[in-house]
Amino acid sequence: MPQSKDGLSKQRNSPIHDWFMDEHGEFIDLHAQLHTYSEVIDFLKHVEDEYSIKEYSNGNNAGARWLFQIYSREFIQQVADIVENILREIDMDGPILEVMAGDGRLADFLRPLLEREYIATDVKSKRYNIAYPKWIHELDAEDAIAEFNPAIAIMSWEPYLSTKSIEIVDSGIPLMWIGNPERCGHFDLFDRKHAGLDCAFCVSRHDRIQEEEFVTGIFLFNIDLDSCSSIL
Ligand SMILES: C[S@@+](CC[C@H](N)C(=O)[O-])C[C@H]1O[C@@H](n2cnc3c(N)ncnc32)[C@H](O)[C@@H]1O
Repeated sequence: MPQSKDGLSKQRNSPIHDWFMDEHGEFIDLHAQLHTYSEVIDFLKHVEDEYSIKEYSNGNNAGARWLFQIYSREFIQQVADIVENILREIDMDGPILEVMAGDGRLADFLRPLLEREYIATDVKSKRYNIAYPKWIHELDAEDAIAEFNPAIAIMSWEPYLSTKSIEIVDSGIPLMWIGNPERCGHFDLFDRKHAGLDCAFCVSRHDRIQEEEFVTGIFLFNIDLDSCSSIL
């Protein structure tokens, strides 16, 4: 039975599956490929029992990957459906532009589900231990917007107190913002008109899975919510 910090035996609340570990006994990298939402939840409950989601998400997994929003098949499909529907409704040219794209996994998973060109950019800050792929354009968010003039921008897990999302929103570009409003970006962002979507499949490094405390969401800015309400 797993031990808690005080050495006492801990109650295990989660089922264990072989696929949770690789051949070296390390927790798998949840973003190596997509899993279903229920698999992700089972896996993270087990991580909570044995270890901690924060430590797991800080590169302590078989892929040495840093995770922020934690993706599932259903989450990715929901994001793709929302983006496609918005693009159909707003009738604007230009690519989908992801800024602050990190290791590019959101882009990797979304691209096959979207018809529009998808460009991923990041300033590639050394502050994070993220393995930035070469194919991610190295650009500050503002410069990326100026260069690619997107139909819609996507930003997931903006650093705390960054005001880049505010600059994008104030420039009038439609923005999908994903993250924890308490710990990502600047609190003034939410003074702007926005819509928080039903996010049944949102999971993140800040959540407490067994307590069912989920703190992230998908928020839309600069999108005419009246004309989009039927599709969101
Ligand atoms: C918390 S990480 C999130 C990465 C990725 N979106 C994810 O969810 O895995 C924040 C990312 O923002 C990038 N970043 C920070 N400031 C930026 C800026 N001004 N313009 C573009 N990228 C920036 C960092 O390099 C880092 O990759």
